[in-house]
Amino acid sequence: MSRLTTQNIVMELNRAFAEEVEAATRYLHLANAVRGLDRLLVEPVLKEAFTETIQHAEVLAQKIRALGAVPKLEISVQCPAEPLSGREALRQALTFEEAALECYQDILRRVEGDVPLEEFIRSQIAVESEHVAQLKELLDE
Ligand SMILES: [Fe+2]
Repeated sequence: MSRLTTQNIVMELNRAFAEEVEAATRYLHLANAVRGLDRLLVEPVLKEAFTETIQHAEVLAQKIRALGAVPKLEISVQCPAEPLSGREALRQALTFEEAALECYQDILRRVEGDVPLEEFIRSQIAVESEHVAQLKELLDE
């Protein structure tokens, strides 16, 4: 099962790194796009999620460095200058959190056989699943 090269692993970690940086960027924007009283409700949620997502990105970058590589980052994020309701912001967050979760699940299938990496990815899947569940609970739909 050791068909994975360091280069393969770095490539997978880079994918997750980009996913987290993109999500963090979107959280930063969402936290500032919500207007009106909804801000009181969702700003803390979005800011906390931003901080946590940036931390995830940093952990991934450290893992990439530990493999002797430099993180590669290619992202394209468009966040329009449109006001959002709290619900709309949470709905958008749910969309990219689900994408991040899917990305980790895909990576898990690819890194099969590298036990420490598998364990790390599994723990990320647990955390991201928790995020998705929280957002769904808040959206109550
Ligand atoms: Fe994350």
